Amino acid sequence: MRFTLPRDLYHGEGALEALKSFKGKKAMIVVGGGSMKRFGFLDKAISYLKEAGMEVELFENVEPDPSVETVMRGADAMLKFCPDWIIAMGGGSPIDAAKAMWIKYEYPDCTFEDMCKVFGIPELRKKARFCAISSTSGTATEVTAFSIITDYAKGIKYPIADFEITPDVAIVDPALAETMPQKLVAHTGMDAMTHAVEAYVSTANCDFTDPLALHAIKMIKADLVDSYNGDMAKRDSMHNAQCLAGMAFSNALLGIVHSMAHKTGAAFADYGAHIIHGAANAMYLPKVIKFNSKDETAAKRYAEIADFIQLGGNTTQENIELLIAYLRKMNDDLNIPHCIKNYGKDSYPTEEGFVPENVFLERLPEIAKNAIGDACTGSNPRQPSQEEMEKLLKCCYYDTEVDF
Ligand SMILES: NC(=O)c1ccc[n+]([C@@H]2O[C@H](COP(=O)([O-])OP(=O)(O)OC[C@H]3O[C@@H](n4cnc5c(N)ncnc54)[C@H](O)[C@@H]3O)[C@@H](O)[C@H]2O)c1
Ligand SMILES: [Zn+2]
Repeated sequence: MRFTLPRDLYHGEGALEALKSFKGKKAMIVVGGGSMKRFGFLDKAISYLKEAGMEVELFENVEPDPSVETVMRGADAMLKFCPDWIIAMGGGSPIDAAKAMWIKYEYPDCTFEDMCKVFGIPELRKKARFCAISSTSGTATEVTAFSIITDYAKGIKYPIADFEITPDVAIVDPALAETMPQKLVAHTGMDAMTHAVEAYVSTANCDFTDPLALHAIKMIKADLVDSYNGDMAKRDSMHNAQCLAGMAFSNALLGIVHSMAHKTGAAFADYGAHIIHGAANAMYLPKVIKFNSKDETAAKRYAEIADFIQLGGNTTQENIELLIAYLRKMNDDLNIPHCIKNYGKDSYPTEEGFVPENVFLERLPEIAKNAIGDACTGSNPRQPSQEEMEKLLKCCYYDTEVDF
């Protein structure tokens, strides 16, 4: 077994200034659509790197849910500029795109298909090292071995997974998270909660990931709702909590909440919206806890989580019910619906959600099949059959009790 994290992690107020001490000649900064520029963080990063004596070039406008084409354009820019540092800054989207650009920059003959072979990335760091600076509090891609790239021709999100792409340096500076709009706080925060819970019950959990997962859950319980309501000290703390959850799941992997979120996310895009990753996780997590609890080891682990965060309860079953009730209350506090039927185009709860019932039922067998085939299913504590996955997804559509 292997446990891998970035070599250095700079955190706390002013952590961004760590860039001043970087050693190198040329840095390529990869950013998204403009929030880093608008709030002045990009200018700061440029001036710190210049202070370190580096020549700096920008690759801007990486779109949310980055495409294969963006990755290839970024890699071309790197091949021209020849950076020895890649500095990715922003949410999960620009950082994930930069990770894939890095692979192509180091191995120009590597195709996107090659990159998607799980744990099949050749040795990197022959041309450049990689620093990730996160501005959202959820994906934790600044510390993980993953990158999610979308092939829009196929309409499918592909995970690239290899410890080679775990960044060399992570910068977790709370100032960058303070500018997040409220909805992004809610969704990315519940994504982090799901990472920690799934990592704790994953079949790949170990002594090194357990403490990270538990402490992340405790912090998210203490911080997320207040952060959502504008408490900036809690917002800062959430930035660390999500990073701990990332350290756990990068090494312990995830489970079927993520499998289902990945495969439902864009499945109804023709009806005008995506089911946002964190919102999908928040809706499905309570259902999956009930389903996985039929597995004795998983049940014991969920009960341990409930105990650790002091939810009360005297038996394993009571603990699990209290954990489920607690997570549902978080959804209410964060204005996230409980099921797809009530998920509005704008992601808020509504009587008439954007996914029509007949369309959901028609696509259900295919979505269930894809979810079973998702990379996250293998480490889930209970392996669902096609029939069980369809039933589970139905419970996620109607918000009905999982009793199988
Ligand atoms: N690599 C991983 O381990 C991993 C894990 C989970 C999800 N993902 C992927 O990450 C992507 C989602 O990333 P994300 O949730 O961080 O969002 P994002 O990077 O897609 O950003 C969402 C929006 O928020 C804006 N934004 C970002 N930071 C901001 C800030 N501080 N202030 C104001 N606006 C800000 C962005 O400009 C963008 O418009 C998806 O593609 C998802 O599949 C990756
Ligand atoms: Zn996630």
